Amino acid sequence: MKKRVAFTLLTLVMMFSPVLSQNKATLHVDLAKEKINPEIYGHFAEHLGKLIYGGIMVEPDSKIDNIRGFRTDIIGALKEMKVPLLRWPGGCFADTYNWRDGIGPRHQRPSMINTHWGGVTEDNSFGTHEFLDFCDLIDAEPYINLNVGSGSVREAAQWVEYVTSSNVSPMTDLRKANGRQEPWNVKYWGVGNENWGCGGHMSPEYYADLYRNYATYLNGAKFKIAGGANIDDYNWTEVLMQKMNRYRWMMQGLSLHYYTIPRRWEDKGSSTDFDEAAWHQTLANTLRMEELVRRHSTIMDKYDPNKQIGLMVDEWGTWYDVLPGTNPGFLFQQNSLRDALVAGINLNIFNNHADRVKMANIAQMVNVLQAVILTKDEQMVLTPTYYVFKMYNVHHDATMIPLNLNVEDYEMNNRKIPASNASASIKDNVVSITLTNLNATKPLKMEIELTGFNPKKSSGKIVTAQKINDYNDFGQPEKVTLKDFKVDKPKGNKLVIELPAKSVVLVQLEQ
Ligand code: AHR
Repeated sequence: MKKRVAFTLLTLVMMFSPVLSQNKATLHVDLAKEKINPEIYGHFAEHLGKLIYGGIMVEPDSKIDNIRGFRTDIIGALKEMKVPLLRWPGGCFADTYNWRDGIGPRHQRPSMINTHWGGVTEDNSFGTHEFLDFCDLIDAEPYINLNVGSGSVREAAQWVEYVTSSNVSPMTDLRKANGRQEPWNVKYWGVGNENWGCGGHMSPEYYADLYRNYATYLNGAKFKIAGGANIDDYNWTEVLMQKMNRYRWMMQGLSLHYYTIPRRWEDKGSSTDFDEAAWHQTLANTLRMEELVRRHSTIMDKYDPNKQIGLMVDEWGTWYDVLPGTNPGFLFQQNSLRDALVAGINLNIFNNHADRVKMANIAQMVNVLQAVILTKDEQMVLTPTYYVFKMYNVHHDATMIPLNLNVEDYEMNNRKIPASNASASIKDNVVSITLTNLNATKPLKMEIELTGFNPKKSSGKIVTAQKINDYNDFGQPEKVTLKDFKVDKPKGNKLVIELPAKSVVLVQLEQ
């Protein structure tokens, strides 16, 4: 009898329990120690399509409000979102670029053909001085990518000297003659880009030797980043780490590139016209970042157990078919709620690996791939991805809180993925938790438990929309933005939240 009462009680408790027991996040606040580098929230600006010309930069006679040629509205929006770091000039373009073409009086600068991106003429009116001026305007740390594929060691060394040296030399004289007396403080230098592909089709063995050759002469480049693997090319990481082992002081970062492509390279899929199956597939492909970061990190751990070399995911984001009617070489795509989820998932993964991931750059900042801003003439649209970056900026420079997450599956076409991912951090005694609900139709109730932190106050923000493919378009009211989200009061060290279907949520807790 006693047994039956106990069983009935347990059943009742389970039936009326507000929480599905499998959805639980345990935050180990007492174990927080790893700083989240703000550079994880970095961006990328290549000479590609309408990113620089027609994006951030206006024509000399333009009526669009600008500061020294850069759109005031874009500067304002980027500052509000916060751009800790900006990578330039590519990408594939970097390994075709001669920096000497982009300095001096603009009308005297030679032009070139942008062979990778649409075969258009690049007039070099945006060069080193303009890039560094733009970084100043948006308060971003600059990251310059040197040319290894078609350049020379001497050319690269002279660029570093031109930018960073305070000595008297032909390069610094040239800089002064071009109007800049003081050196710039540029910390991050990339040594080539995708040297397994557009950056020279090299083997990892050959590239590692070449890297050492370059690095030897880059005096003034404080933080050098080697061109890393494509997706799951673990051999590239292994060879680089092994061949650099005796020369570890020459390499402070190793990059990794992984793009989310819904289908196949030849037929990627539309950025706006997709169904729930494509949504699920895209998010499943995004979650793969976790495995890539983990496995590349494990290889790095073998050679660098103290994690002195950063894994720099310096290109990530969605890559769809270009919008119909646009130049296929310009990589212009729309940005829907699905992109907001992709951003939330990736940024949570990077936060959780803050011990190894020291930088990440979404591709690309304006008008290209998963852009945070789109422009059409004088109009500007902030994309759903913009709002996720704005929401997540609470994690910049915060201390990552390790968390355990148990969640139900989100299943489609016999493929199961976790219905949520999350990350958390603490700064100024405020705990910030960012969570995704990948499920397109079902809300997700989650219990959050904190160890070593008893919150009294709670607040929240959300990015969601009515439809999975809602997006913000020119001349229309914004459909996908950052809104307030009501969070119930915590009870002791616990609280329960319900993540609406297809959403990215920020919960903040204070003692
Ligand atoms: O971001 C577009 C291109 O993707 C970059 O130029 C290249 O590095 C990558 O393949």
